[in-house]
Amino acid sequence: MTAISSISSSSHAQLYNYDVVRKFTLMTLVWGVLGMAMGVLLAAQLVWPELTLNQPWSAFGRLRPIHTNLVIFAFGGGALFATSLYVVQRTSRVRLVSDTLANFVFWGWQASIVAIVVSYALGYTTSKEYAEMIWPIATWVTLVWVAYSYLFFATIARRNVSHIYVGNWFYGAFIVVTGVVHVVNHISVPVSLLQSYPVYAGATDAMIQWWYGHSVVGFILSVGFLGMMYYFVPKQAERPIYSYRLSIVHFWAIISLYIWAGPHHLHYTALPDWAQSLGMVMSIILLAPSWGGMINGMMTLSGAWHKLRTDPILRFLVVALAFYGMSTFEGPMMAIKTVNALSHYTDWTIGHVHAGALGWVAMISIGTLYHMVPKLWGREQMYSTALINAHFWLATIGTVLYIVAMWVNGITQGLMWRAVNVDGTATYSFVEALEASHPGYVVRLIGGGMFASGMLLMAYNVWRTLQDAPQRSGAGARQGEAAT
Ligand code: HEM
Ligand code: HEM
Repeated sequence: MTAISSISSSSHAQLYNYDVVRKFTLMTLVWGVLGMAMGVLLAAQLVWPELTLNQPWSAFGRLRPIHTNLVIFAFGGGALFATSLYVVQRTSRVRLVSDTLANFVFWGWQASIVAIVVSYALGYTTSKEYAEMIWPIATWVTLVWVAYSYLFFATIARRNVSHIYVGNWFYGAFIVVTGVVHVVNHISVPVSLLQSYPVYAGATDAMIQWWYGHSVVGFILSVGFLGMMYYFVPKQAERPIYSYRLSIVHFWAIISLYIWAGPHHLHYTALPDWAQSLGMVMSIILLAPSWGGMINGMMTLSGAWHKLRTDPILRFLVVALAFYGMSTFEGPMMAIKTVNALSHYTDWTIGHVHAGALGWVAMISIGTLYHMVPKLWGREQMYSTALINAHFWLATIGTVLYIVAMWVNGITQGLMWRAVNVDGTATYSFVEALEASHPGYVVRLIGGGMFASGMLLMAYNVWRTLQDAPQRSGAGARQGEAAT
């Protein structure tokens, strides 16, 4: 074991399967650019509705799920595949159990994404949010997920160290719960190749769907990325995690609470009232472990705060944590029924989503990819630190513009919809609330455009880093990695 732990970085590429990590890393970037470009197009359609082009495939209703699936499963999922397979090998000090299986997971996942995009554009959908894929695609995704689970857990089982690093616990929970909720929510009876009917009906169907929907938020967009945080924040800060004990408490608390919070998506519906209240209470308690994790990440920088001045990668990771703290404060507030009575159906929800999606999920993924790219390809560093810095400001200002615009819109909409005259009639028509929202949509388009253009800078920077190896990489060790 000592021999293994003293391996030089030059032999990492021979020892570990970096090929699959590199492929997932590149595709994360590709899908990130496409998914966010789609987001910008949607934002533009809400400013200029003519952009729907009067074609079925380019209608807002078809492009919206393409955006959500691309950014969550292709971009976010890709970042989780890449980093989990990187972290599990490095912390277990062992190669993935099978290169063939790793390739199957990579190509299988890319095939799923292409099938998703094509089928949604053609209008084939189950119409359940984040679970729109028709049954053949859902079945294929299950198969790929089983292969991924085996790859991850069998690698842990073969580890060369006795300890299982906490990041792997988070990745492991993300893998298990995502698999379970995907299967349960997609159980349906096929009637043809393109159509099936769910086995659940009415309020039960809604409850299962939002148990799934919130678990996507909880286990993919939160727990998965917390796994990433536990490895890459200490690495980039060159400090051990602030409190290992807190990370264990954080893990058990967050996984036991998230699974109960789904009903907060169904306040004031036909769902039994006790279930709604349970969802509300669990969501409020969820604030504690969420902030425990955020504080653990932030405090890891104790004694290293000065690095933020010169290291834009670390800045991405820390600002991501700040947005995580903000959105996990906002979420529990929105779960309170009386607050939800105002926020539900409004742009406030969209603001909350993107505080988490852009500020947390995208920012931590971007920082992590900047950390990993030079290591994976054996380069000294990224081609341009100035470009990373520019990207950081575009992403931060873009996120702030996006969410502030949606807060203003959301509260305006909520207040206008509930305003009534003395005779009980509505004070404002729906169209008046829509007109009041227009300036916010313009600001969101500008913010989203800034965020997406930062992704283009990143793509260019990564491309130049891969081109630039001979001049920039140090002799010997690093080139040894690059060659494999
Ligand atoms: C340039 C960046 C982005 C832009 C401009 C953008 C824009 C949009 C727009 C216009 C919508 C539709 C809102 C509506 O229906 O009123 C939307 C929905 C959504 N986006 Fe994004 N988006 C971006 C990035 C992301 C990222 C990175 C993620 C996730 C990691 C994400 C996740 C979502 C989700 C989950 C929804 C559905 C929200 C809901 O139904 O409540 N977006 N986005
Ligand atoms: C303690 C943590 C959190 C709680 C309690 C929470 C709570 C909520 C609540 C109450 C809603 C509005 C439901 C509605 O009115 O329909 C919501 C929506 C949403 N949240 Fe969170 N949130 C949390 C963290 C996050 C994070 C970190 C993300 C990451 C991106 C996120 C993503 C979403 C998404 C995508 C939706 C929209 C779902 C939809 O209607 O399509 N949330 N959340």
